[in-house]
Amino acid sequence: MRIVSVVGTRPQLIKAAALVPALRARHEEVFVDTGQHYDEAMAGTFFAELGLPRPDHALGVGGGSHAEQTARMLLALEPVLVAERPDAVLVYGDTNSTLAGALTAAKLGIPVAHVEAGLRSFDRRMPEELNRVVADHLSRWLFAPTPAAVANLAAEGVTDGVLRVGDLMQDLAARIGREVSGPAALAAVAGALGLPLGPGGYAFATVHRAENRDPDAMRAWAAVLADAAADRPVVLALHPGTRAALDAAGVELPPGVHVVPPQGYRTTLTLQLHAAAVLTDSGGVQREAAWLRTPCLVLRDRTEWVEAVAESGGRMVVVGLDRRRAALELARLAPAADAPRLAAERAAGLDLAPAGAGVAIAAALAGNP
Ligand code: UD1
Ligand code: UDP
Repeated sequence: MRIVSVVGTRPQLIKAAALVPALRARHEEVFVDTGQHYDEAMAGTFFAELGLPRPDHALGVGGGSHAEQTARMLLALEPVLVAERPDAVLVYGDTNSTLAGALTAAKLGIPVAHVEAGLRSFDRRMPEELNRVVADHLSRWLFAPTPAAVANLAAEGVTDGVLRVGDLMQDLAARIGREVSGPAALAAVAGALGLPLGPGGYAFATVHRAENRDPDAMRAWAAVLADAAADRPVVLALHPGTRAALDAAGVELPPGVHVVPPQGYRTTLTLQLHAAAVLTDSGGVQREAAWLRTPCLVLRDRTEWVEAVAESGGRMVVVGLDRRRAALELARLAPAADAPRLAAERAAGLDLAPAGAGVAIAAALAGNP
């Protein structure tokens, strides 16, 4: 099949890295980058690091309000799809690039394949929830990562074209996790960042959700990180949108929180694997922490990745921005005295299998699931 894949954001580049080899083994792919993420550290760097193909079409649409951004993507995508005449358009996840890719294709009568179909937070205030729901209801192939995602679709009356394929990001985490499981990998990252980070001797954090860029929310999660930093350094890999929101609201981060720019994929996986704990509102980081078995506090009120929490044996807790609860859970999951031993054991015992999602998606698109 001739497939146009639409990517645009950091997590989509990472997911594409897991799918592209399997997809190109069976199909012809045209790679379109909307440019939703455009900083070198948010986008460009992943092309080289993860061996992604150069985009056949780079649309250069980034920034602006949701309506403006999505509208510019629709305008830029339509002539590309008309000219490329694909058999299908493949979109990933729940960003504005997902919505634009799915909507443009559907309006042109081109079948849509949605990777990570069926996730629901049941919170329609989240831009991601709107994007997912629309993309799912426009899709012919709905590649669901989890049983809960399949059930969510069934509850909305969507069963045709739904296939549970596992989680594409697990395929990549399994491959790269093996490469970074030794203490030397952490030592190299610590050296590059200029921070004294030993196994289990620090916490790793990311924060970027729209709801966590509100001034009150930023003060609340800064307090959560301040408590975590009382026991050990916290490394916060900061999304540029969050950096801008902190600066605009004049919110300062506490001492002990080491803010670093967005990091590459290997560095991020290394920092998660060897950490005492991960604190995040990211969907991708949350799942990676689960696969790596690193204790994780989810800085959101709810998550669409319910299995990651349910199957964590209590290692993953959805704490929202509740400072007291976060401090208690961190003390329980990563007591300062034991964390280095626990982290070293965890990294040494890492045994993460690929999910096989890439191969399953490529086969299903070939009509041979
Ligand atoms: C987007 C997705 C979100 C996803 C996240 C992954 C939507 C609605 N949201 O959020 O689901 O979890 O990507 O990281 O699609 N910015 C830069 N440089 C960049 C990119 C963004 O400075 O390379 C800043 C700009 O100020 C921009 C802001 O971040 O306006 C928001 O960027 P945007 O792409 O609209 O949404 P994200 O917050 O990145
Ligand atoms: N990630 C990264 N560098 C960072 C922060 C995250 O490479 O500084 C990776 C992370 O390991 C995961 C993906 O980006 O694979 C998650 O993307 P993000 O948090 O931007 O979005 P979400 O998953 O919440 O949509």
